[in-house]
Amino acid sequence: MAAYGTQMFSGYLAAMNPRAGAMKGAPAFYRNLEAMLDVRRARHDLLTAKPRWDETVGDYTSSDFLSLNRSGRVRELFLAELAAHPQFVLSASGSRVQFGNYEYLCETEEEIARIFKAETAIITHSGFMANVAVLPAIAMPGDAFVYDEAVHASSHDGMALSKAEHKISFAHNDVDALREVLEKLSKENQGFVTGANSIIILVESVYSMDGDICPLQEMVALTKEMFPMGNAQFVIDEAQGIGIIGPNGCGLVALLGLEKDIAIRIHMASKAAGSTGGIVLCNQTIRSVMISHARYMIYAGAPSFPMVAGIRVGIRELTSGACQEAQDYVQRAVRHFFNQVTSHPSWDAVNDEGILRIPVAEDHESRPFVSHIVPLRTRVGDEKHLSRHLLLIANANAYAISFPIVPKNKTRVRLVFHAHNSLAEVEKLAGHVMDWAEEMLRIDEEGDDEVLPKATRMYQALEVAA
Ligand SMILES: Cc1ncc(COP(=O)(O)O)c(C=O)c1O
Repeated sequence: MAAYGTQMFSGYLAAMNPRAGAMKGAPAFYRNLEAMLDVRRARHDLLTAKPRWDETVGDYTSSDFLSLNRSGRVRELFLAELAAHPQFVLSASGSRVQFGNYEYLCETEEEIARIFKAETAIITHSGFMANVAVLPAIAMPGDAFVYDEAVHASSHDGMALSKAEHKISFAHNDVDALREVLEKLSKENQGFVTGANSIIILVESVYSMDGDICPLQEMVALTKEMFPMGNAQFVIDEAQGIGIIGPNGCGLVALLGLEKDIAIRIHMASKAAGSTGGIVLCNQTIRSVMISHARYMIYAGAPSFPMVAGIRVGIRELTSGACQEAQDYVQRAVRHFFNQVTSHPSWDAVNDEGILRIPVAEDHESRPFVSHIVPLRTRVGDEKHLSRHLLLIANANAYAISFPIVPKNKTRVRLVFHAHNSLAEVEKLAGHVMDWAEEMLRIDEEGDDEVLPKATRMYQALEVAA
C-alpha cells in the first residue's frame, strides 16, 4: 500500500475533479450544490474527510494530546464503568426539561463540578454545542459580546444566534485593545456604566490556531476595575487548555485560582480527556438560565449514558494525577522541538527571510509552560509546500492552515504535540522542517520562479494521475 501521504493526497486530488457538468439529468437542487462545490474544487480549497492514519505516521494533528486514547487507557476505564452499571439504559429518551434528566448524568455533573471547583457543571454533546448553547442563552437585548479576534468558530456561531446588541472583537491577546473596546462601549451606552446591561467577554485559555495563552489575570483585573458593578463577565473556552496546563490539567482558570472570578468555563472531554463531549462550568444562576433558555437544552435529547460514562472516566483519569507525567512530557517534547529548530545552522537565515517563523518559540525558556500547539508560520502559499513536505517526505501528519480559517497574512502549518511523539521522532521532525526551509532558501537564492520544492513536484505528479 502507498505511504499515507500519497494515499491521502491521491484521494484528495480525485475529490477535486469537477462534478456538476456531468450531472445534466440530475435534479437541479443537487446540480446547484455540486456547482457550488466545483468553485472550491477548482481552487483546490474544498475541505474533505481524510482517511485515518495509523501509528506508523507521525501524529502532529490529533487531539489525543496525552495519548489516553492511543494507549487504550480510557477505553479500559470506559468498559469497566459500563460493567459497573450493567442495567444502564442507552438513550436519555428526552431533553433535560423532560425525561432526560437522569441520575447518572446529574451525579457525573456534580462530580465534575467538584473536581473543577465550580458550583455546577452541565454536560453537552460536544464542546462546539456548549458554546452554541450557552452564548445565546446568557445575552439579553442591549448586552454586548466583546471577543478576542481569534476565538473559535463555535463562539462565533453562538454569538450569531444571540440577541446581544453589540458584538465587538479586540486584537488577539491584547489587554490594551480590550480596554479600548470596553471604554468605547461605556462611553456610548450608559447601561454599561449603571450595570443595567452586561458585557460578556469571550476568550480561550490556549488559542487553538496560535497556541498562545490568554493574559487572563490582567484582563480580569482590568474588567473588575472598570466595572465594579460586576456587569462585565468572562466566558473562557478551555478546550485546548484542559490536560495541558494547570494543577492536574484542570486548565488556566485553575492554575490562576480564578474559579470565583470567571462566570463560565467551557471544557471539553473530546481532546486531552480522550472521550467526547463538552462541559459548562458555571453557577446555579447560569444553570437555571441554561435549562430554561438554552434551546439546545430544551429541544435536544440529553447526552446518553455511554457518552456520559466516557466523559466521567476521561475527566476522572485526566485530573487524578495519573496524567501528570504525560502532561510534563508534552512540555519537554515541545521545548525539544524549539531547541532543535532554533539551534539549526540555517535558522537565522530562514527566519530573517520570513521563510519560517515560530512566534511561540520566542523566549520559551523564560515561560513557565508552553502549549502543545505550535504554528509554523510561513509566507502566504508556502504553508502548502511545507505540509506536502511533511506528509510526502517526512511521513508526518500536519496540515496547512490557510485563509479563511486564519487571516490571509497568517498562514501556517499547525503542529500539535502529544505524549506519544518520542523525542527521537520530534528531532526527526525538526530536521525535516529545516530541510524544507533550506530548500526554500536555495530556491529563493536561485531566483527562478518556475522552480518548485520537491514535495510539491511529487504532489503535482499525483495530480496528473488523479
Ligand atoms: C477552542 C475550541 N472550542 C470548541 C471546540 C469544539 O470542541 P468539540 O470537538 O468538543 O466539539 C474546539 C475543537 O477544536 C476548540 O478548539
